[in-house]
Amino acid sequence: MTIIYSAQTTILSIKRYGMRAATNYSARLLEENIKDFYVKKIALFLAAGLMPLAFLSVAHADAALAAAKGCTACHQVDKKILGPAYNAVAACYGSADAAKLAANKASLVKHVKEGGAGVWGPIPMPAHPAVANEDIGKIVDWVLAQKDGTCPKEFKPKA
Ligand code: HEC
Repeated sequence: MTIIYSAQTTILSIKRYGMRAATNYSARLLEENIKDFYVKKIALFLAAGLMPLAFLSVAHADAALAAAKGCTACHQVDKKILGPAYNAVAACYGSADAAKLAANKASLVKHVKEGGAGVWGPIPMPAHPAVANEDIGKIVDWVLAQKDGTCPKEFKPKA
């Protein structure tokens, strides 16, 4: 009688504590997963929040580069001074075709480096032999990213 009774309690307690251990274990797993989920979510959220900041600082860097290289003496983003407005340059040379955009960029870099007249009117742009092509390229990328410009009638691209 006692033997049967103790065997019964053992089975019962294995069942009970075994179950409890299993529940504890899965609860812990669940908790870890939830923690992991939120850590990832928060990281994503932070990354998404900081992304515009990164873009902003790149845009600032290129605007600052244009100023440092003297481009802003003759160019503004949205108004013609001596040279065309940069958003007009973007409107005339922008293209959804990546190959065409790359070709336009290359020809703009060359024109800035060597100077010249006749595309936007009779006033020439001086050559910029002292500005590295890499810097001109960065500025031209920034120029081509300007929005809300219109391409004027006097624009005559070089063949
Ligand atoms: C002294 C004035 C002056 C300075 C300084 C100047 N530009 Fe210009 N830029 C012009 C003029 C004028 C034109 C129009 C030339 C033309 O019609 O061919 C022009 C044209 C351009 C164009 C369009 C070229 C094309 O082929 O359509 C770009 C891009 C440009 N400039 C970028 C720059 C950058 C970048 C700098 C600085 C490194 C710079 N410019 C410095 C006067 C200037």
